[in-house]
Amino acid sequence: MTDIAILVGTESGNAQMVADALQEVLEEQGHEVTLFEEPDVEEIDFPNRDVVIISCSTHGDGELPDNIIPMCDALKEQKPDLSHIRYGVVALGDQTYHQTFCQAGKDVDAIFASCGAVRVGERFEVDACTQPLPDEDAREWAKEWLEQL
Ligand SMILES: Cc1cc2nc3c(=O)[nH]c(=O)nc-3n(C[C@H](O)[C@H](O)[C@H](O)COP(=O)(O)O)c2cc1C
Repeated sequence: MTDIAILVGTESGNAQMVADALQEVLEEQGHEVTLFEEPDVEEIDFPNRDVVIISCSTHGDGELPDNIIPMCDALKEQKPDLSHIRYGVVALGDQTYHQTFCQAGKDVDAIFASCGAVRVGERFEVDACTQPLPDEDAREWAKEWLEQL
């Protein structure tokens, strides 16, 4: 049993829906999950965590959702040592934004990596055009991801 933090970056709820689906799957598999809808570095308490999943959409022109910006800014400024953390990323986007597809998820991924955290598996990129049921896809991803944990 692992204690897993899910951090959400969303503007219109899809990444939240994905996070809720991930939480269900992880709990079904016997893990404990804490969901952070307004991720805050102090509340998340990174020094006492081992496993994190970030579910994050992209908005504007490749930008982060507003609710996850404070956490990302804090990590970029403070550069805490997160080398004890293993993490996964579910990046939501839309392929019609060619230049910036899933850019925010890519940026969050890079921020965690720059703090020394180790990603488990590949980043899971969800395209709103071709994957109309992101929560269902995320459930399948979560099961495979857990096997690599
Ligand atoms: C105004 C707007 C701008 C967007 N910009 C991007 C973008 O630059 N790159 C991308 O991959 N997706 C972009 N998207 C698509 C969203 O990331 C996608 O619809 C996602 O599922 C929304 O998730 P959310 O409801 O959690 O915010 C944009 C969507 C909107 C409405």
